Amino acid sequence: MGEPKGPVVVTGAAGFVGSWLIMRLLEQGYTVRATVRDPTNLKKTKHLLDLPDASTRLTIWKADLDDEGSFDEAIIGSTAVFHVATPMDFESKDPENEVIKPTINGVLNIMRSCKKATTVKRVIFTSSAGTVNIEETQRSEYDENCYSDVEFCRKVKMTGWMYFVSKSLAEKAAWDFAKENNIDLITVIPTLVVGPFIMPSMPPSMITALALITGNEAHYSILKRIQLVHLDDLCLAHIFLLEHPEAHGRYICSSDDVTIIELTKMLKERYPEYNIPTKFEGVDDDIKPIHFSSKKLTALGFKYKYTKEEMYDGAIKSCREKNLIPLKSEEPPLGAKMNGA
Ligand SMILES: NC(=O)c1ccc[n+]([C@@H]2O[C@H](COP(=O)([O-])OP(=O)(O)OC[C@H]3O[C@@H](n4cnc5c(N)ncnc54)[C@H](OP(=O)(O)O)[C@@H]3O)[C@@H](O)[C@H]2O)c1
Repeated sequence: MGEPKGPVVVTGAAGFVGSWLIMRLLEQGYTVRATVRDPTNLKKTKHLLDLPDASTRLTIWKADLDDEGSFDEAIIGSTAVFHVATPMDFESKDPENEVIKPTINGVLNIMRSCKKATTVKRVIFTSSAGTVNIEETQRSEYDENCYSDVEFCRKVKMTGWMYFVSKSLAEKAAWDFAKENNIDLITVIPTLVVGPFIMPSMPPSMITALALITGNEAHYSILKRIQLVHLDDLCLAHIFLLEHPEAHGRYICSSDDVTIIELTKMLKERYPEYNIPTKFEGVDDDIKPIHFSSKKLTALGFKYKYTKEEMYDGAIKSCREKNLIPLKSEEPPLGAKMNGA
């Protein structure tokens, strides 16, 4: 395996992306400092502590995006920070204080800790496609030069608006801070992340990705024209961007553009045991997908490994193994809870 690398910090370590990223980092010889809000909650950390090499190269640290300075201790002496944590409560009664402020203040807290530490060579911030294409009229293609219209989100208040606003403003704040303080920052922009996972509860993005199987109609509009990336590809891209000396700026990480009609066809063929709808109000059968260009990442040498079929097969297998979705449509959903519920 070679010399141990790091230590690197991963925030939001217990979550869907954070936990898989830590698994890959440990495999690749990194020493990892994982931050969670409550290290005493074994339900949230067991899947991390059980990872191969965790006993020698993984430590768990307490830190909260809301607490100024709470990341200082974990970050001092580290060589890189993956800032993955984010509050993802689409149902929040107080979105400004519960979602938007902690996301912006959290990234600034972390950047300030990195500045104080002086050992951090690169910060990788997991941004979101929600910072790119939320606007009144959809284009046929998006790239890293595109930014969501925050005022439009605040005006329309579509499902998840507070998340789109929080990620857009947090990414902007991170860029401003990085430029003013000479910090090497990379932002990774994933589209909908799908795939097998190690966290024990239902990942928030799986609620959307598997909506056609669970019959969660509120999420169909998000799937109308959606882009996808496999969780493993996303985590490998994070490590690739940490290690690549020429990486700079924003990177879209997305391998597939699909429509709800294509998803329906694929899922019906592979999973006939589920009652998957075929017709959707206001959606034509020949609807065209919207392309998220990942050219900047692939031009740097990154190669995607997985197909959309593998994303869905992996996600469904993990959900079934953890009893988070029924095995077929007749059965009621078992314990399909949001992360942390
Ligand atoms: N999954 C996707 O489809 C997708 C797509 C685009 C972008 N992303 C981005 O990917 C990142 C990870 O998302 P995910 O899918 O892994 O979500 P997730 O499973 O909900 O993980 C997010 C983590 O953030 C932590 N967190 C929430 N509020 C916090 C706070 N106030 N202080 C400290 N930690 C806090 C939670 O940690 P605790 O364990 O302490 O509760 C949780 O484990 C996010 O930045 C998200 O914007 C995800």
